[in-house]
Amino acid sequence: MKTLIVYSSKTGNTRKVAEAIHAVLPAGTDIFPVSDAPEPDAYDFVVVGYWVDRGTANTEMAAYMPKICGKKVGIFFTLGAYPHSQHATDSFEAGTKLLGEGCEVVAKFWCQGAIDPKLTSWMSKLPAEHPHSPNPERLRRWEEAAKHPDAADLEAAQSAFRNLF
Ligand SMILES: Cc1cc2nc3c(=O)[nH]c(=O)nc-3n(C[C@H](O)[C@H](O)[C@H](O)COP(=O)(O)O)c2cc1C
Repeated sequence: MKTLIVYSSKTGNTRKVAEAIHAVLPAGTDIFPVSDAPEPDAYDFVVVGYWVDRGTANTEMAAYMPKICGKKVGIFFTLGAYPHSQHATDSFEAGTKLLGEGCEVVAKFWCQGAIDPKLTSWMSKLPAEHPHSPNPERLRRWEEAAKHPDAADLEAAQSAFRNLF
């Protein structure tokens, strides 16, 4: 089974998960950042990894995913929100909708990822009435996100993608 991993990562979180997954897929599995990714046509199993941007796959990955048609697919992503939140589930659903026709999602994984300090520092200055302004709950979530992906996340990602076929 010819396998391709394509990922997009602005600050490195999603790349760490991509590399962990690559380590448990069969030898010969190709891995590329989306900017250098080949067309998916020549592969049987295509694994895509994105960071969540406004509730869906980030723009570069969102442009690549519709090219994947009729393949077995794995989806992983990192996000600032908690992994068991509705927002995380919605971010997965939004990602699957970007795939081309006839794909079958056979593996999935997501975890929190440290939020770019440029963004948190910008949000920290927002007025209290703004929906993204910091409140105690949000600050706790940013603090927790800052610890991820950790070793347990990377192991969980590997478990989700090991021995699939
Ligand atoms: C511009 C921007 C938008 C983001 N939007 C969301 C979002 O809608 N939901 C969320 O949970 N996290 C959001 N995040 C957090 C990132 O998805 C998260 O930090 C991710 O791990 C970054 O991955 P990377 O290091 O691979 O770039 C956003 C981050 C940035 C910079």
